[in-house]
Amino acid sequence: MIPPLNLSPEIDEIREELERKLWRVISDAAFIRGREVQEFEQAAADYLGVKHAIGLNSGTDALVISLRALGVKPGDEVITTPFSFFATAESVSVLGAKPVFADIDEDSLNISPDAIEACITPKTKAIIPVHLFGRPCNMGRITEIARRHQLAVLEDCAQSFGAVYHSRCGECGCSSETKAALQGLKTGALGDMAAFSFFPSKNLGAFGDGGLIATNSDALAATARKLHVHGADKKYHNELVGYNSRLDTIQAAVLQLKLPHVDRWNNGRRTAAQLYTMMLEQHGLSPELLTVPKVIPGHVFHQYTLRLRKNSARITRDELVARLKVLGVHCMVYYPVPQDMLPVYEGQYEPCPVSRTIAGEVFSLPLWPLMTMHTQEQVVQALKKALKG
Ligand SMILES: Cc1ncc(COP(=O)(O)O)c(C=O)c1O
Repeated sequence: MIPPLNLSPEIDEIREELERKLWRVISDAAFIRGREVQEFEQAAADYLGVKHAIGLNSGTDALVISLRALGVKPGDEVITTPFSFFATAESVSVLGAKPVFADIDEDSLNISPDAIEACITPKTKAIIPVHLFGRPCNMGRITEIARRHQLAVLEDCAQSFGAVYHSRCGECGCSSETKAALQGLKTGALGDMAAFSFFPSKNLGAFGDGGLIATNSDALAATARKLHVHGADKKYHNELVGYNSRLDTIQAAVLQLKLPHVDRWNNGRRTAAQLYTMMLEQHGLSPELLTVPKVIPGHVFHQYTLRLRKNSARITRDELVARLKVLGVHCMVYYPVPQDMLPVYEGQYEPCPVSRTIAGEVFSLPLWPLMTMHTQEQVVQALKKALKG
């Protein structure tokens, strides 16, 4: 069986270093707030090009704590995409605020700036763009909308560690000043705050749960830092009701070792994506039947996600995925149900039409940084066979 993701090749590359490092952490026995945490935070801030990075327990906590730091309160509205993992909307709901879903752009599968504008009300406090599958959102226009309406921007970078923003001529639609200010920045350095996840399958993954907040604001960083340790920056001086959400020393040590490799691994993902697109073309799998993702600069391909076009295909997406499994290829579906249609929000939203259609058509091919051409060829052969039935 070809799995959706195989982490072994990248772990094998750094196995000896990892073993040495992890034994040292064990010998030091500083499992909470060990020196690797601070070292990793500094290295992550330098890599992302931000002033502050705060290691946390998970990406979900990074979203919740960022929203708290930004002052989101019960009754506020936060605009986000329906097409994401539930943690995005959950972080808003858990604070008693209301997620408002702006539909996605069919081409990028990311939140549409036009749809954001249509959702703004006097209660809107923030926007959470999600750089889905590793593709940066149209941050040029999102930044301008946020400025115009005085809204905070919290980037959900759970799937985009290492992605770089490039305004593609003519597509961005923002002013040349905004373009110049954002061009070449990493995701995580584009908004007021950013939330990263180090869930093991992410582009930079820990050996368990982990997350990070990035920001250039001293004030927001200070509040977030307080909140992540029970609302205190000094022991027994709790000023806020906060969380226990520290990044473990062991996870920080793993991430510290992996960080210098992440650009090469992301390039590996992008090369594999390019190769998939070429192979699908060579095998004559038509664009009317299968829509492939665009390989744009800066995209780090957390997933390579195709659309099986309902109108042209003789089988459904779920049948195709089941057939592929029988043929030994395990594909995942991200996401079969948009957030606005989840049972938790039953009866609260009119489904966003584009994301509803897309959720019925997408599936992701197996992809990892050091995937071989031979494995990719096997996947494409199986896909061809499965489509023929
Ligand atoms: C887009 C998105 N946001 C948030 C999260 C939450 O991250 P974590 O699992 O680290 O809490 C994830 C994780 O899967 C995600 O994909």
